[in-house]
Amino acid sequence: MKLGFIGTGKIASSVITGIFSSKITFIKILISSRNKLIATKLKKKFTKIIIAKNNQEIVDNCDWVFLSITPSVGQKIIKELKFKSTQTIISFISTITLMDLKKAIKVKAKIIRAIPLPPISLKKGPVPICPPNKKVKNFFNKIGTTVEIKNEKSSINFWSASGMMASFYELLRVMTDWLVKRGVKRDIAQKYVTSLFLALSEDAVFNSKKDLKHLVKESQTPKGLNEQGVKELTKAGFYKSFEKTLNNIHKRLNK
Ligand SMILES: NC(=O)c1ccc[n+]([C@@H]2O[C@H](COP(=O)([O-])OP(=O)(O)OC[C@H]3O[C@@H](n4cnc5c(N)ncnc54)[C@H](OP(=O)(O)O)[C@@H]3O)[C@@H](O)[C@H]2O)c1
Repeated sequence: MKLGFIGTGKIASSVITGIFSSKITFIKILISSRNKLIATKLKKKFTKIIIAKNNQEIVDNCDWVFLSITPSVGQKIIKELKFKSTQTIISFISTITLMDLKKAIKVKAKIIRAIPLPPISLKKGPVPICPPNKKVKNFFNKIGTTVEIKNEKSSINFWSASGMMASFYELLRVMTDWLVKRGVKRDIAQKYVTSLFLALSEDAVFNSKKDLKHLVKESQTPKGLNEQGVKELTKAGFYKSFEKTLNNIHKRLNK
């Protein structure tokens, strides 16, 4: 199988890095020369990578084509490309619907929307796909955890949740800087904060059959520090504001 990536940015390079450390079998990966710097780095790092001359060369030579461009670029370039009905086209584009993709692609190819996230480079993280597709599911299960979604409208909820990644990292940054301001060395502060949140996330996954509210409760001692933390933040409207932002991101995707 030959894989092609149109757009060689953050998400394409994360998926490609994941593929090369996985058991996925493929013959070659064709990538665009845009972004040139990322494309050259990927070619240097991995064998079986070919930098194509243009986007059509990728489409002409690949069985699966991943659309990893931004929505505005996608609106412009997809309709100009000549796809084949035997191809599987996987779109990472956040705001182009299946119906619009079908219109732009024209031929009756298999079209799937997928939401991989940067930790896919470490073969970690969820990958919602819509509509369900067995081969695409098996593929992403080798570099992450595929979540099949039947209804495209529902997939927008997952896109919205994935819009909070940067906010999560910002939380880690604020905590790390806070420790640094108190005289802790940056590398120690960052190691502490990141391993704390890694352990908490692993514990949450381990306990995934339990409702998360139990973990919220179990991590508080009456009148303890964690109780103070969650109470103060709730009173200050932190979690309400968090939910409001999720709603606002959702509204933007639902337009
Ligand atoms: N980043 C994420 O966490 C994430 C997660 C899931 C889905 N997505 C979606 O994936 C898509 C790409 O996101 P990204 O974060 O990877 O963006 P990005 O880093 O900006 O990558 C976009 C890539 O498209 C290239 N490009 C621009 N015009 C092109 C053209 N005419 N032909 C071919 N390539 C062209 C850019 O090259 P130049 O630099 O040369 O312009 C760049 O390499 C977006 O639709 C986004 O919504 C992103």
